[in-house]
Amino acid sequence: MGNKSTPGRERDQETRDATGGVPHENQETRDVAGGVPASLIKLDANENPFPWPEGLGAEIAAGLEFNRYPDGEAIALREALAARCGLRAEEIIVGNGSDELIVMALQTFGGPGRALLIHPPTFGVYAAMAATTGTPLLEAPLAAEGQALNLEKMLSLCRDNPVAVMIVCNPNNPTGALFPRPEIERLLKESGTLVLVDEAYGEFAGAETSVLPLISEYQNLLVMKTFSKAFGMAALRLGYLCGPAAAVSSLNRTRQTFNVNSFTQKAGLAVIRRAAAYERQVAALRAETEKLYRGLKGLPGVKVWPTRANFVLFRPPDAIRWGEALRARGFIARVFEHLTGLGPCLRVSAGTPAENEAFLRAAGEVAAAENEASPRAAGEVAAAP
Ligand SMILES: Cc1ncc(COP(=O)(O)O)c(C=O)c1O
Repeated sequence: MGNKSTPGRERDQETRDATGGVPHENQETRDVAGGVPASLIKLDANENPFPWPEGLGAEIAAGLEFNRYPDGEAIALREALAARCGLRAEEIIVGNGSDELIVMALQTFGGPGRALLIHPPTFGVYAAMAATTGTPLLEAPLAAEGQALNLEKMLSLCRDNPVAVMIVCNPNNPTGALFPRPEIERLLKESGTLVLVDEAYGEFAGAETSVLPLISEYQNLLVMKTFSKAFGMAALRLGYLCGPAAAVSSLNRTRQTFNVNSFTQKAGLAVIRRAAAYERQVAALRAETEKLYRGLKGLPGVKVWPTRANFVLFRPPDAIRWGEALRARGFIARVFEHLTGLGPCLRVSAGTPAENEAFLRAAGEVAAAENEASPRAAGEVAAAP
């Protein structure tokens, strides 16, 4: 596939970035040494902006023997996760980030003749990993401007094609939409396929929105979660997938023996022990996301999507120019050159309160400058092409 992308911009379904790698939330902000320039405020990858509790890293490292292999089965961590999720350890598998679990799910259940169904615009890694695992890709674009699943289309694609697995991203990245549980249950009952619900942002939507409790009812339900977002561990790479023991056991066959390192396993356990502190951070980030939503909604010509995650999707009159103008003011937002059905958009993650206030000031300046340059365009809410 041709790639006209420039660094810093992403089409939702591109399978390769400008360097030939898989597009991800994080790459374009890196400088040549792999670091993020200190002068830039990074609001492009839906991370938790708060630092780790003082001393936690040292505390974890202190008791570890780095010369020994990790526990390949990650038993203590899976047992702690099982207790947290109301499941058994056999119903949980951990991954080197949930990215690795997506690959493992497609290696296990996908492949030639066994299609993956997704609902664009959604997380770009699903399509990218379908391509690398030789899994045919089917798409049922979201309805209602990215806010609703097109259930009829999803079910008819499942009837007419050899769909092996579908991924429902809930809340959805990048639109922020939360899909109702009865709709997911309908897919579970009527699709005749595995339904993998990616709840990477579930903590922000609230535990009551999770479909984890349905695992005991549906043999075709898999639920994936990550420590990269609410739990502030993006750099350490820890995701987990829950499902019926038989499906987890199949997935386990594709797992590399030592896929999650010792430091990460111990960090996961430490974070689970401190869950209350993270719940306070999640509450703060929800309030900050709401602040970003209201602030952006007040700008002329900007269409803003309601969100249940820790980010806000918005469409100004010229998303690409806005991305550049925000960057010139020191802020990195995610620029999408084109999202299915929505056109060019920007996505901004909730940072710290000070970062968000500064971001909204900068966005206000950009809107005012655009308004001066083209008063009519800025007065109308940007429409998708
Ligand atoms: C919806 C979704 N799923 C999965 C991931 C991957 O997360 P991880 O860091 O666990 O690989 C992301 C990261 O942005 C995401 O947005």
